[in-house]
Amino acid sequence: LADQSISEDELLADPVEKVMAVGGTPHPAIAAPADLFQPERVNSGGLDLDDAVILEETVAAITTPVNVNGDARVSPAEAVTAALAAFPEWSSTPVEMRAECLDRLAEYLEENRSQLMAIAVQEARKTIPDALSEVREAVDFCRYYAARARIDLVPVELPGPTGERNVLRHEGRGVWIAIAPWNFPLAIFIGQVVAALVAGNTVVAKPAPQTPAIGRFAVALAHKAGVPKGALQIVTGAGDVGAALTADTRIAGVVFTGSVPTAKAIARNLLADDDRPLVPLIAETGGLNAMIVDSTALSEQVVRDVVVSGFQSAGQRCSALRLLLLQEDIAEHTLEMLRGAMDTLNMGDPADPATDIGPVIDQAAYDSLMAYRASVKDRILHEIPVPKNGLFVPPTVIRLDDISDLNREYFGPLVHVATWKAGTLEATVAKMNAKGFGLTMGLHSRIAGSSAMVEQLARVGNLYINRSMIGAVVGSQPFGGEGLSGTGPKAGGPHYLYRFCAERTTSTDT
Ligand code: NAD
Ligand code: ALA
Repeated sequence: LADQSISEDELLADPVEKVMAVGGTPHPAIAAPADLFQPERVNSGGLDLDDAVILEETVAAITTPVNVNGDARVSPAEAVTAALAAFPEWSSTPVEMRAECLDRLAEYLEENRSQLMAIAVQEARKTIPDALSEVREAVDFCRYYAARARIDLVPVELPGPTGERNVLRHEGRGVWIAIAPWNFPLAIFIGQVVAALVAGNTVVAKPAPQTPAIGRFAVALAHKAGVPKGALQIVTGAGDVGAALTADTRIAGVVFTGSVPTAKAIARNLLADDDRPLVPLIAETGGLNAMIVDSTALSEQVVRDVVVSGFQSAGQRCSALRLLLLQEDIAEHTLEMLRGAMDTLNMGDPADPATDIGPVIDQAAYDSLMAYRASVKDRILHEIPVPKNGLFVPPTVIRLDDISDLNREYFGPLVHVATWKAGTLEATVAKMNAKGFGLTMGLHSRIAGSSAMVEQLARVGNLYINRSMIGAVVGSQPFGGEGLSGTGPKAGGPHYLYRFCAERTTSTDT
């Protein structure tokens, strides 16, 4: 602590305020080497002028309908058997050769960008900018995990007394099951797969039932890039297929992204049989994400970031803003500006480059979001008109009487809003922590002490200050939460690959 005049008793009585007051930095940071990896671009932006060619090619590709065979070609058990058979050869393939496969896959993804985007638009109803972000993030995952593998997965010689040699190795564990959601059907799907593969595992991947085609195309590209067919299998189907894969007692781990109930079902499955080995589950799940705004924030920036965080991708991002917490004094003014900004949004066909927000993923999602809206219709503060035909859920702002009135994720373009009084920032963060989710949080404030306090108190994996709270960039913003929001480690971060590995130490008396 810089200021010794504050007594220990005072500090103990009110640690957060006092530590901030004396200028303590809760998380001093050191810079990571810059040359490891350069991400493609911020992945939640719109299209730039130099994206014109991509746009033209994608629009042309979209005119060819996707021909999807959604049936599993092999049964879950057959896929695991094949992946087990491929494990000895793939796990003993040198790390450098495995990493080269990822780098080649990144090139193939880029070469096939327009086709992949066209499939994402048709199958996942992504807007064109979202489809482009999807491909860019997938490319980033390949290049980042390849770069990390070259550093993280080489054996490390550890100290010991003279005459003793200690070596720590990171090796593949066996067959991993990779289960992906529909909302990032390429980026998350491929991120899970390539992390498990480069760590030396073989993989059975199950895409979401809504988005099998893009998964199949990506797997075909991975095989072309040099991943043996046995080492990477794809099995399509719904939750019962995922349940069968995770019930197979021969598997060595599960990497899952999706909803909290599914993560819990998988965890129960992994523990159901007393005789099966204990295997890791990496689960990245939902969030109940708040953006806290105080009276020092810049209104224009707040409104822009609320629109992007709450409504882009029709709110179908785990990171999306669900609960806007405005300091009482600025609430009316901010909401007035937000109404104006929402009215400029263009909802429509995702294949139309002019569309800002497209439809939601399927009829079931549409029905459940519309039923919820109907149940809170007296509290709707603003909504915008939507096209007549299609699964368009109106971007909507819903008033809450109290922060405690929202306790679950509504996976669509619905932003709830509540107010807080000056002087209750700490209590407001505590209320959010108490909900048990811990994925993203936003803060808009120009008070350094407030930022430091929220950074220290918020139990979230990703905190965004004075900016939007979606679009984490691989290698720059490792992504993932805690509590109900996930187990970690963070995707696109420096510790991710280790969880896929068995760590083995050999000690030799020389
Ligand atoms: P979901 O849980 O319904 O499905 C995800 C995947 O799990 C699908 O492939 C599905 O077929 C499979 N599945 C369903 N039941 C299963 C079972 N019993 N055993 C094994 N697999 C099973 O989720 P969703 O609707 O596809 O995706 C939306 C959810 O994902 C939201 O809650 C969102 O917040 C979350 N999400 C989280 C992240 C993150 O990184 N934290 C990223 C994207 C999405
Ligand atoms: N990584 C995605 C985002 O940050 C979920 O929006």
